[in-house]
Amino acid sequence: MVKICCIGAGYVGGPTCAVIALKCPHIPVTIVDLNQDRIDAWNSDTLPIFEPGLQEVVTQCRGRNLFFSTAIDDAIRAADIIFVSVNTPTKKNGLGAGFAADLAYVEAATRRIAAVAQSSKIVVEKSTVPCRTAESMRRILEANSRDAIRFEILSNPEFLAEGTAIADLMQPDRILIGSLPTPEGRKAQHVLADVYAEWVPRPQIITMNLWSSELSKLAANALLAQRISSINALSAICEATGADVDEVAYACGLDSRIGPKFLKASVGFGGSCFQKDILNLVYLSESLHLPEVAQYWKQVVDLNEYQKRRFAQSVVSRLFNTITNKRLAVFGFAFKKNTGDTRESAAIAVIASFLNERAHVHIHDPEVSAAQIELELVQPGVCTQAVYDAQVHRFADPYEAAKDADAIVICTEWEQFAQLDYQRLYDSMHKPAFVFDGRLILDAPKLRQIGFQVEVIGKPA
Ligand code: NAD
Ligand code: UGA
Repeated sequence: MVKICCIGAGYVGGPTCAVIALKCPHIPVTIVDLNQDRIDAWNSDTLPIFEPGLQEVVTQCRGRNLFFSTAIDDAIRAADIIFVSVNTPTKKNGLGAGFAADLAYVEAATRRIAAVAQSSKIVVEKSTVPCRTAESMRRILEANSRDAIRFEILSNPEFLAEGTAIADLMQPDRILIGSLPTPEGRKAQHVLADVYAEWVPRPQIITMNLWSSELSKLAANALLAQRISSINALSAICEATGADVDEVAYACGLDSRIGPKFLKASVGFGGSCFQKDILNLVYLSESLHLPEVAQYWKQVVDLNEYQKRRFAQSVVSRLFNTITNKRLAVFGFAFKKNTGDTRESAAIAVIASFLNERAHVHIHDPEVSAAQIELELVQPGVCTQAVYDAQVHRFADPYEAAKDADAIVICTEWEQFAQLDYQRLYDSMHKPAFVFDGRLILDAPKLRQIGFQVEVIGKPA
């Protein structure tokens, strides 16, 4: 029987290992974290993250074979397989600042494993890391390992998307397991593959070399984000020509070589990973003296910044070139629907420019608290506490948020935003009343019939 420990109880470690516990009731799984509040939340009825279906999975397994704890050393000692699922944010200072991944958390977790392990372990790199990070982990572990203790490093990147994490984990497109091409590496690969094989069909469990596995994760995110930037670039052309970006995406997506997914134009992609992972790839390319390659991927992020700016500017220009003291109701603060995660949300950049123009911003999001909004907005480059206190308000009720507003600005594709009573919203707003749909989720002709001035990304005015 194997025992599993997961270091890092975040958006990846929590759901991933909870699903392993559900699908493998014979395997004890302990998820550990340095953050006591996060662990307390995992052990409570209010989980630290909102993810459809997660509560049910945790409720079924917690206390049976799923445990959340801050006793990191005990969990490391007891485990045969240790997932390292800690955060790998973009570096803020020093060499590679603004591009390279900050591997301090991965290194700290690796050093902890080396320091306390009393038996051989399979260490699984679950975090998204630059190519060849497994080599650094191996060197740290080997330099610190004592007699008869061996460490095998595997790369097992995670491909779940937030908002659909449980479905993605239950029915993954593929499971990727990279190892060194040694007999011990292959053996470790088999041990981990056997865990996933409890619910994932064997042909979908892919094994390959460590570096391919690490790079595949960065590549997959870069390719996905590149599709969004491509359709967003086309959305600007659509607006200038009278073409409709949804129709263009539909026509292109019917080509089986292109496919229909990830071609939804938007105010810009957000989330903790796309930007971070592409910048990481840019840094890697530059370090490898491949400036043209670096420039190519950098453009995906630059286009995304342009799209957010372009959307915010179109709001100002349509509102007669001034939003000073006007009320703008922003619907959606999370980076996508069905999550409370706000990291790198496009809404932040859009709201920052509204605040800079001295507008009053009324925010409504079904899953994001006022405290979380404040945390994201009161930041260098966004706004000061004084601006936040004077100009930002969070409303639980969308009708209250829109009262006396000049415009509704859709930043997140929450389905409930399409179900609202727009006549009621219109009646309570300043006229002319505007709607700016940054997610292409509303019925624009119907809104125009009510009397709204409607602007939709990538659609003719
Ligand atoms: P997160 O910030 O939600 O969680 C990371 C957790 O690790 C935090 O709770 C932190 O306290 C903990 N931690 C950090 N150092 C630790 C240490 N030394 N010991 C114990 N705990 C420690 O991050 P996340 O969103 O779960 O992402 C984790 C990794 O997975 C990242 O590399 C990310 O790129 C990757 N990833 C994320 C997603 C996603 O949807 N969020 C999807 C696929 C891959
Ligand atoms: C993304 C990938 O989809 C996952 O496979 C990957 O594991 C994860 O990053 C990661 O490494 O963190 P996630 O960021 O959670 O998942 O969510 P996505 O569904 O990819 O959406 C990302 C952003 O792109 C959101 O802001 C979303 O609204 C936007 N998006 C997505 C579009 O604007 N248009 C689309 O067609 C699709």
